[in-house]
Amino acid sequence: MTGQRPTTFYIRTYGCQMNKYDSEIVAGILEEQGLREVSTPEAADVVLINTCSVREHAEQRVLGYLEQLRPLKAARAGQRLAVIGCMAERLGSRLLEAKPFVDLAVGPDRYRELPRLLGLGDGNAELSGEAETYEGIWPSHRKGVSAWVAVMRGCDNFCSYCIVPYVRGRERSRPAESVLEEVRRLAAEGFVEVNLLGQNVNSYHDGRHDFADLLLLVADVEGIRRVRFATSHPKDLSEKLIEAIASHPNICPHIHLPVQSGSDRILERMNRRYTRSQYLRLVERIRARIPEVALTTDIIVGFPGETREDFEQTRSLVEEVQFDGAFVFRYSVRQGTAAAQLEDDVPELEKIARLEELNRLQKKISLRRNRAYVGRKVEVLVEGPNRKRPGQFVGRTDTNKIVVFSPSVPIEAGSFVRLRIVEATAHTLFGELEAEQGPPRVACLTEQNPDAQPWER
Ligand code: SAH
Ligand code: SF4
Ligand code: F3S
Repeated sequence: MTGQRPTTFYIRTYGCQMNKYDSEIVAGILEEQGLREVSTPEAADVVLINTCSVREHAEQRVLGYLEQLRPLKAARAGQRLAVIGCMAERLGSRLLEAKPFVDLAVGPDRYRELPRLLGLGDGNAELSGEAETYEGIWPSHRKGVSAWVAVMRGCDNFCSYCIVPYVRGRERSRPAESVLEEVRRLAAEGFVEVNLLGQNVNSYHDGRHDFADLLLLVADVEGIRRVRFATSHPKDLSEKLIEAIASHPNICPHIHLPVQSGSDRILERMNRRYTRSQYLRLVERIRARIPEVALTTDIIVGFPGETREDFEQTRSLVEEVQFDGAFVFRYSVRQGTAAAQLEDDVPELEKIARLEELNRLQKKISLRRNRAYVGRKVEVLVEGPNRKRPGQFVGRTDTNKIVVFSPSVPIEAGSFVRLRIVEATAHTLFGELEAEQGPPRVACLTEQNPDAQPWER
C-alpha cells in the first residue's frame, strides 16, 4: 500500500491503566479519520506500540516485541510502525536511530498529531503539547461493564526513583464538566462502573472542584452504580475524600495507597513526603471511618541504600497494616531521575530475596483477609464467564475482590448478584448465589480471566 492512504491499524499496549486509556484515545483519533482497528499486526497498515518506561524490564519487553514486528513489517509493503507512549517520549530520536525500521516516535501529549504524522490529514495538532488533556476527544472504549476515565494527566511529585514526571509532563486536571460528559456517555452505552484515573488523583483540582467534589459529581450520574479511583498519594488524601467514600455507597471502599517503603530514611530518600507514622495514622483514620475498606499498596525493594534494617521496617509495616494486596517491585534505575545519582548498591539477588519474602508475607495476609469474607453476603458486579472454567462466572465486590461462582443459568455481564462467600484463597473468593438483583445492563458476555492483574484487564 506504498503511498496509499492507510485503512487499518493495530495497537498493542504496555504499562499502566493510563496507557490503556490513551490507547483508547488514539483508537478514537484514528477511527475519526476512517481507519478500522484490526486484531493482528499482520493485517494492519499502521502498527502502534504504546510503551512503558517505568522499569528497565518494561522497556526490554517492548524492544523484544519490536524485533518480532520487524519481519512482519518487511513482509507488508507500506506498513507504518509507530512507537507511542512513555518510551517514545523518553528516547525520542534515539529510538529511531537504534531501531531504524520504526517510522515514528510520538509521546503521550502529541497524539493529536498522529493523523498528520501518518499522512492522514491535518488533525488539530495546534492543540497538542504540555497542556494536553484530550478534551473533546471521544476515546474508543472497549466493550465491557467497567470503563477507565482519565481525570488528570502528568505528575509533579518527582518521587526520586520515578520516570513518570519526565515522560508524562506536568500535572494538569481535566475540567469536571468534561469528565462528567464522558461518564454520562459511558452510562448511556451501558457501562455501570467507572474508574477515575490519574497518577495522583488526590491532587486533582480544576480550579473549582477538588477530587472529592469530582467523585461526588460522578457518583450522581444516572446509571453509574460504582465509582472507583486510582492512584492515591498518601500525602494528599484528604478527610473530605474519606468522608465522601464513607457516606456514598456507590463510591467503592477500596483505596490503592502506595507506601513504597516502611523506613523513614528510605521514604525521605524517595522524596515521598510522608513518614511511616503519618502513613500509619492515615490508615487508622481511613479504617475508623470506613471499616469495610480494602487497602492495597505498591512497594519498592532494594532502593539505593536500603539496608536489611530498612527492609525490616517495610516488613513490619506490611504486618501492621494488613493490606488486602500489595504489588512489590525491585528497584530499577531510571536515567535522569534523582535516584539515578545514588549508587544502586543492593545486589540483584538480595532484591529478589526481599521481593519474595514480602510476597510470601503478603500472600498469608491476603488469605487471612479473604477468609474473613467466608460466611458473609456480598454484592458482586458480574464481569462475565470464567475464561478457564466453563460454567463459572467472575465478578467483583465493591472492595475489588474477585469472586468466582457457578450459577445454574448464565448471568449477563453487568448484572449485580448477591452471593454468599463459601471459600477463599489469597487471590479469589468463591460464592454461592443468593439472588439476582435488577435488570442486567450489558448484553455482551466478554470472557474474563480471574488471574489477570489489574493492568491486564
Ligand atoms: N502514580 C502512581 C503509579 C506510579 S508507577 C503512584 O504514585 O503510585 C507504579 C509503581 O511502580 C509505583 O508505585 C512504584 O512502586 C513502582 N515504580 C516506579 N518507579 C520505579 C522504579 N524506578 N523501580 C521500581 N519500581 C518503580
Ligand atoms: Fe511516580 Fe511518584 Fe508521580 Fe507516582 S506520584 S507517578 S511514583 S513521581
Ligand atoms: Fe509506564 Fe508511562 Fe504508565 S512509564 S507506568 S506507561 S505512565
